Order: sequence, then C-alpha cells, then structure tokens
Amino acid sequence: MRAVRISALTGPDAAHCVEAEPPRPGPEDVLIDVHAAGVTFPDVLVTRGQHQFKPDLPFTPGYEVAGIVRSAPKGTRFTVGDRVAAIPHFGGYAEQVATNHRLVFPLPSSVSFTCGAGLPLNYLTADYALVRRGALRPGETVLVHGGAGGLGTAAVQLAKALKARVFAVVSSPEKAEIAAAAGADEVIFLDDFRQAVATLTDNVGVDMVFDPVGGDRFTDSLRSLKFEGRLLVLGFTGGEIPTVKVNRLLNRDIDVRGVAFGRPWWLDMDYLGVQWDRLLPHFESGRLSTLVGQTYPLSDASRALRDVDERRAIGKIVLRVS
Ligand SMILES: NC(=O)c1ccc[n+]([C@@H]2O[C@H](COP(=O)([O-])OP(=O)(O)OC[C@H]3O[C@@H](n4cnc5c(N)ncnc54)[C@H](OP(=O)(O)O)[C@@H]3O)[C@@H](O)[C@H]2O)c1
Repeated sequence: MRAVRISALTGPDAAHCVEAEPPRPGPEDVLIDVHAAGVTFPDVLVTRGQHQFKPDLPFTPGYEVAGIVRSAPKGTRFTVGDRVAAIPHFGGYAEQVATNHRLVFPLPSSVSFTCGAGLPLNYLTADYALVRRGALRPGETVLVHGGAGGLGTAAVQLAKALKARVFAVVSSPEKAEIAAAAGADEVIFLDDFRQAVATLTDNVGVDMVFDPVGGDRFTDSLRSLKFEGRLLVLGFTGGEIPTVKVNRLLNRDIDVRGVAFGRPWWLDMDYLGVQWDRLLPHFESGRLSTLVGQTYPLSDASRALRDVDERRAIGKIVLRVS
C-alpha cells in the first residue's frame, strides 16, 4: 500500500509517500480502506517531535480518517463494507489503517468521505471542551479563537447547535467567510477583538472563551470574560504558551480550564463512541459538517502540512487517499 512516512523530525518537508507493508490488525482492531485523511495541527507538531505523543521513527502521521471497513472483529458494531470514520491515533496518511474498534465510528451515507475525515478529532474535541469541561449552557456567549480553523469551525458549529451566541475571531477576510459559513453570529478581526467583545456585549463580556491559539491574545481573552466566565485552553498554534497571573482569576471570579481530548479516552475508551452517537443526528442532518477548504492527493501530504504550519489553511485540509 502507499503511505506517508516521516523519517526525520524536520517538519512538513520530511513527509514522503512510499510503498509500505499494510498494517496487521490486532484482535480488537478494525482494518479500514482509507478514502480520505484529515490534516490537523497535531500532525504538524508530530513531524517536529513537538507533540506529547512521540512515535518512534520512521512513522506515518495522521490522526483521523474516513473509509470502508475491510475486516472487523466479531462482536463489534462493524462489518465488512461499512462506511466509517476513525481515529488511528497516527498512521492515517495511508491506504489502510488498523485501529481499536472503540476508535471507529459509523459514518452516515449523507456524509462524504472528505467531510467525514474531518469529523473525529475536531468535533469530539469541541464536544468534550464545550460540554464536559466548559459546561456550556443555552443562551451563553462563546468567543472562539481560530474561528476558521479545523477545531475552531467545529466549535462554532457545535456551540450554535447548543444554542449559544457565538463570536468567531479570525485574522483575514477570507477566514471571516469560513467562520460566517460555520454559523458564527459575529465574526471579529483579531486586531481589535477585545474592543469588539466589549461593544457587542455592552461591556459585560462573554461567558466562555474557546482558545486553540494561545500566544499574546491570552490576557485580552481573560479580560473579555464576564463574572464566572471560563477560558478553555486547547492549544498553542500562536507559538507561545501563555502564563496566567492568578490574581486576575481571583479579582474577576473567572476560571481557566485545560482541555486534553485524549484524557477521557485513556480513562474510558467507550467515551468517544458515546460522544459520537450523541452528535450523529447532527452529522446526518449536516448541521455539524466539516468546512473543507482544500483537498490534496496523498502524495502532496507535505504541501498540505505546510499550509497548516504556515497559517494558510482556510477551512479544513483533507488528503484524498483513494
Ligand atoms: N486540546 C486538545 O485536546 C486538542 C485537540 C485537537 C487539536 N488541538 C489543538 O488545537 C489547535 C488547532 O488545531 P487545528 O487542527 O484546528 O488547526 P488549524 O486548522 O490550523 O487552525 C488553527 C488556527 O490557529 C490560528 N493561528 C494563529 N497563529 C497561527 C500560527 N502562527 N500558525 C498557524 N495557525 C495560527 C489560525 O487562525 P487565524 O489565522 O484566523 O488566527 C488557524 O486557523 C492546535 O494547537 C492543536 O494542537 C488540541
């Protein structure tokens, strides 16, 4: 089979398409013929050895896929020929992947493989963040940073489905279009987001900030929270990991909450399937749907990774595998 290989931790340029041995599924694994693979920021981090998960070299990146079941263990919810999305937990940039059946999810016939490949990581993370860590309530106001990115658009769509009012922060007019298409009530440019929040909320602030970016916007995000507001920390695409002066939390009765999507799944592997089944009606109806910006063939994986790395991705980037 064809697969993308990383043989040195030198970043996206290290990704090369090669002939590789197909995976050998373990007793609990589903073997999947991959049709599309989502390209994520964690994939970029792993090409530099900067992700918390550090596979031995050489390895195949790729956190999420969509395809068709080639084989499945008896007693699972899957059978040969089923359309599925899955989290191979790296290894997704390949024509076949094998992964534990609890990390495989039914893909509705109304969802294309291209869109399906963008669902598992971002939408399950957004759900974990907004619902479990953030305890978002209907009618609350959420500010989403990186509102045109993969995780950001998922958060915008899901927060809307949960009946929140959503502001999306973006850095360019092209990205503003994507955030608006995701359903944001207001799209705000990064330069003056704090003032925009003040204006839009009559100086009250927002209930929640969803932040996959970090960097120097962090303190203004804290200042944009209202009484008992929550800031969810999801990632640091901006580069810098911010620090918190805890007197800000005390003075304003606000929380900063970390979100590590892997945690509940390490503790309880069935958790992801429960999440997926809860979101499934929204995937079927298209209310939650990957906003695909660009697709590339598998052989162009390094270009796709560079787009994400260099902040050029507008909407979700997906690799066409077969
Ligand atoms: N905590 C978790 O469980 C979890 C799970 C999945 C992903 N993540 C993290 O979430 C973050 C977003 O992932 P993603 O796949 O959604 O990425 P993405 O599609 O590339 O979106 C990230 C956004 O970050 C913004 N950004 C600001 N500075 C940037 C820079 N220097 N380089 C690139 N982007 C920059 C960009 O928006 P603007 O240009 O509009 O500012 C971009 O749209 C990553 O840090 C990832 O590791 C965390």
